[in-house]
Order: sequence, then structure tokens, then C-alpha cells
Amino acid sequence: MNINVRKTCERDIPAIARIEKNSFTDPWSENALMSALKNEFEIFLTAADENDMPAGYLVGSDDGFSAYIDNIAAAPEARRQGVGRALMTAFINGLSEKTVTVSLEVRVSNSAARGLYESMGFKAAGVRKGLYTAPAEDGIVMILRLEKE
Ligand SMILES: CC(C)(COP(=O)(O)OP(=O)(O)OC[C@H]1O[C@@H](n2cnc3c(N)ncnc32)[C@H](O)[C@@H]1OP(=O)(O)O)[C@@H](O)C(=O)NCCC(=O)NCCS
Repeated sequence: MNINVRKTCERDIPAIARIEKNSFTDPWSENALMSALKNEFEIFLTAADENDMPAGYLVGSDDGFSAYIDNIAAAPEARRQGVGRALMTAFINGLSEKTVTVSLEVRVSNSAARGLYESMGFKAAGVRKGLYTAPAEDGIVMILRLEKE
């Protein structure tokens, strides 16, 4: 799949909201996605397909020391074709020079996401009991330490 990772625009939000609904039991609403887009502290990336339509997206932040990934998904029909990895790579490559860690949480049962994070070097760093609802589940905290010279 030919993927171009770029900044998200307002016109991407309806398609991203559809992917969100198809990916999570407790999806972000279109309003929540729009707020993330307008929040200057959020980094909101889109993986655009050949027609410049969103095939996936990532929302994260970077305070210049540590970065955090809030949300990532690929459209169900676009999975296992490198969309998730392309988004993570673009996010990490765009971080501040001084940023030394990237962290996130993931449902214990989410083997696809855990597989993606582990393949990129993230390590489990702890468990947050009862982090998720619908259904209730623990979250694993995962951290990637960036090598700096
Ligand atoms: C997690 C998710 C974003 C991965 O996106 P993707 O575009 O399918 O991932 P990629 O094709 O880039 O896969 C990269 C690597 O991740 C791992 N991986 C991806 N899907 C996997 C699966 N179903 N099982 C095991 N490992 C998987 C593999 O190591 C894969 O490399 P490979 O294909 O060369 O074996 C996608 O499954 C998704 O949108 N899931 C629903 C939303 C979600 O759970 N988001 C994460 C919340 S914490």
C-alpha cells in the first residue's frame, strides 16, 4: 500500500471518525477528534492512501523531553500493510531532538497493537489496573527509550 504520512486537515475528520468507530468500543467522537486537531499541543498525523484519503491516523504529544501516544488506528481494510508502522515511524522521527522516551498504554488483550509496539522496540513498563471500560480491562504501559548520542 502506498502511504503518505502528513498532517491531518479538517476535511480528514469525517473519514477518521469512521475508522475510529470501526476500531474501538469507546470511540472518540467527531468533536473530540476536531478538538485534538485544534489543540496546539497535539500532534495529529494522517496516513493518506493513493487518493489522499485517511487509511489511518495517530494522535500524540511531545513536551520536548517525553512523548506520548494517545491514539492510533488503521482502517480495518488497510491493516497489516504497514500503515501503523509508517505512522509510528513518522511520529518518532518528528520528535524534538531532546525527547528521550515515548510512552503509551494498550489493552492487555490487544495483541495486534502490542505486536506493533514490540516490533518497534517498546517494552512493557507496568500495568494500570482497570484503566479501560467497555469492556473493563487493565492497560499495559509501554515505553520506548530513544537512543541519543
Ligand atoms: C494496532 C494497529 C494500529 C496496527 O496497524 P497496522 O497498520 O495493521 O500495522 P502494520 O501493518 O504497520 O504492522 C506492523 C507490525 O505490527 C505487528 N502487528 C500488526 N498487526 C498484528 C497482528 N494482528 N498480530 C500480531 N502482530 C501484529 C507486526 O509485527 C507487524 O509487522 P509485520 O506485518 O511485518 O509482521 C491496527 O491493528 C489497529 O488499528 N487496531 C485497532 C485500533 C487499536 O487497537 N489501536 C491501538 C490502541 S492502543
